[in-house]
This record gives sequence, C-alpha cells and structure tokens, in this order.
Amino acid sequence: MDSIAAFFTENSAAIRDSIITFGGILVGLSIVLIVAEKLLINYGICEIDINAQEKVLEVDGGQTLLSALYENKVFIPAACGGQGSCGHCKITVLEGGGPVLPTETPHLGRKEVRAGVRLACQVKVRENILIRVPEELLNVKLFTSTVAGTRSLTYDIKEISFSLIEPAEISHRPGQYVQIQAPSSDGPVFRAYSISSPTYEKNSVELNVRLVPNGIGSTYLHNLEEGDEAIFTGPYGEFRLNEDPSVEIICVGGGCGMAPMKNIIYSIYDQWPDRSCWLFFGCRTTKDVFYLDELNQLSRKHPNFHVVYALSDPLPPGETWDGETGFIHLSADKYLEEGVRRQAFLCGPPPMIEAATRVLKEKGIAPDDIFYDKF
Ligand SMILES: Cc1cc2nc3c(=O)[nH]c(=O)nc-3n(C[C@H](O)[C@H](O)[C@H](O)COP(=O)(O)OP(=O)(O)OC[C@H]3O[C@@H](n4cnc5c(N)ncnc54)[C@H](O)[C@@H]3O)c2cc1C
Ligand code: FES
Repeated sequence: MDSIAAFFTENSAAIRDSIITFGGILVGLSIVLIVAEKLLINYGICEIDINAQEKVLEVDGGQTLLSALYENKVFIPAACGGQGSCGHCKITVLEGGGPVLPTETPHLGRKEVRAGVRLACQVKVRENILIRVPEELLNVKLFTSTVAGTRSLTYDIKEISFSLIEPAEISHRPGQYVQIQAPSSDGPVFRAYSISSPTYEKNSVELNVRLVPNGIGSTYLHNLEEGDEAIFTGPYGEFRLNEDPSVEIICVGGGCGMAPMKNIIYSIYDQWPDRSCWLFFGCRTTKDVFYLDELNQLSRKHPNFHVVYALSDPLPPGETWDGETGFIHLSADKYLEEGVRRQAFLCGPPPMIEAATRVLKEKGIAPDDIFYDKF
C-alpha cells in the first residue's frame, strides 16, 4: 500500500497533466462530433406520429423533439426553456427516440423509463418517431396579448395584467400556468408563470412576477409597460381542484407562490360561497406582505375562508404585526385540526414545500391530494 501511495505522490503532477490532456481530448472530440452532426449529417424529413395518427407532422430531422413540436404548434411544458433541468417536458416515445441519455436519467424514474417516458428537449429527431402526448397538451394555445396594466406589489414583485388579442379567450383550471416568451441574446426563451387571475376572467391573464437579479424572463416582464405586446403559451399544469364542495381546500404559499393561490381562492368563492378554505402565506418581513387587505375583505364576505400570514424574520424594533410569526408550516400545524377531508395546493421555495407537505400528511391528507409547484 505504501509503495502505491508513494508512486502517486511522486508522480502526482504527471498524473494530473494526463487527466487534463485526456479530458481535453474528450471535450474536443465531443465538439467535433456535434459540429460534424450539424454540418455533415442530413436526416432529411422525418415523421412525428402523435397518438396513433391523431396528428402526423413532417419535420426537418436533426432538431430536438421539443422544437419540432413547438414549430408545429404542439406546445409541451418547458419551464427551463429546453436546458434539461426542469423535467417538465416529459412525453412518451414509443418508437424512434434512440437510447435514454445521461441528461435525462436524473428526471426519470425506473417505471417511466420502462414506459418510454423521455424529455422532449433532449430527444433528437433522427428518424420517424412515434409519440404519445396527453390530449390536454394538444389543446395548449399560443396567445398574443397586450399589457393592460402593471403595479408593484412589493419591492421585488410586480402584478402584470395582459389583455388577450388572439385567441381572445383563455380557458384554464385554478392553479395552472403559462409560458411567457422573452427575448434573449440567444433568441427567444420561455419561462413559466402561474396565472393569478381567477378562471372566470376569460379575456385576460394576470401574473405576479418576482424580479430575479439578471434573470432573463423576470427582467423582461418587469420592464413591460402598458400597451406592450407579449406572447405566451398555455395553460399548463397538473393542479386539479376537487369539485366536491365539502372537501376543504388548503393553500400554502410564499413569495410569488401567491399567484396560483389567489387564482384558486377567487375561483372557489365565485362558485362555492360557503366552501371552507385556508390560506397560509409565509413572508420573511412586512416588506414581503401583499394582497393581505383584499384577502381579509374576501374573508369577511365568506366566513369559511381563513387567512393566515406569518413572518419568519424577527420584527425590527418599532414595527408592529398582529399576524403569526415563524415558518408558515408551523402555522398550518397550529390551526388545522385532524380528521377533515381536504385537498392542498402548495407553491413556493422547495424547503417550504417539503416542510408543509410533512405537516399536511401528519394531518391526514393523502399524498395524491397534495399538489405543488416548486419555484
Ligand atoms: C410551474 C412554475 C410556475 C412559476 N410561477 C412563477 C410565478 O408565478 N412568478 C414568478 O415570479 N416565478 C414563477 N416561476 C419561476 C419562473 O419560471 C422563472 O424561473 C423565474 O422568474 C426566473 O427566471 P429568469 O428568466 O428571470 O431567470 P434566469 O435567466 O432563468 O436565471 C438567472 C439566474 O438566476 C438564478 N435563478 C433562477 N431562478 C431563480 C430564483 N427563483 N431565485 C433565485 N435565483 C434564481 C439562475 O440560477 C440564474 O443564475 C415559476 C416556475 C415554474 C416551474
Ligand atoms: S424543457 Fe426543461 S427539462 Fe426539458
């Protein structure tokens, strides 16, 4: 053992140089292969058969399945814009997708791999390909709109309303989202934003957007002014509200995770004025509090609607706050009794979602009745 260690110590510089050289050769080869594929290989026209001939597309081979579908107005959710990081663009490829790539495996379970589930942004169209797409996605549309108004909700969150031009109406479920097209130096990119306006507002879409420093999508949206044009696709998302009004609804959110909550709450009270619903909203400081007055007003109109805001940071000297304090999942734990039939919708940063999910499961909510979007 000692002689092996001595060998590595004496030759460490040579070993490091060999590793760097070998790595460099591998990277160089990959670049050559990518360029060669782009310039030399012509896959010609390939067919994409969707849902056993329900739709058959003829596309230029060599592009990703996601772009080929997008060009033909089949809009697959792609929150990361095709970078392979969000895992939202899953569809089933029955034939012609080639082997699953290492970039896909972190997002796919074993059962999904066996069933042919793939990331559309990673699969290249190199031959005729047979895919299955949920019917709902075939109804996703591309909308053109103009900005009807903007207002600051906090120092970093803006409410932005869009009037729809074409199509002039949107039909969405509470808690769904759209993908806004934003310009970037590499061409248009797409980012997901939850719809904060209720489902009965058919001619407009409202968003709550938090400004991410140097973020492409959020900066674009924060700079929009009244009258500017904007393009988005949608609606997307797996949130499904239980239509049985005796099922209590629990909403837990933080930051711009308010958007789908607001949509769900206003949509519920338009349809079921007496339905029981709790909103637990977590903020760090009073500077992060928004919509509290209008939600309190709604709760006076609908006594079964309960609003709980909690601040997680200590209150600075001189400031007053008559709401809850501490992390928001602790408020949910404090207020919710066990043994009630419930469905829950969670939106916010991953640690908040994980803590709230634990509490809600302890209160007896089945995992299938807990929906969440992490962002
Ligand atoms: C289903 C879904 C719904 C969403 N709904 C909303 C919504 O209603 N309102 C809303 O504001 N956002 C929402 N998001 C997040 C939104 O899609 C963007 O990810 C976010 O606005 C950042 O995009 P960007 O283009 O501005 O930043 P990018 O250009 O993508 O990123 C710029 C830099 O910021 C970092 N970054 C990216 N996101 C964050 C973040 N959240 N916090 C800190 N750093 C970050 C990146 O690592 C990168 O270094 C949602 C996301 C999903 C998946
Ligand atoms: S678009 Fe995000 S992983 Fe494919």
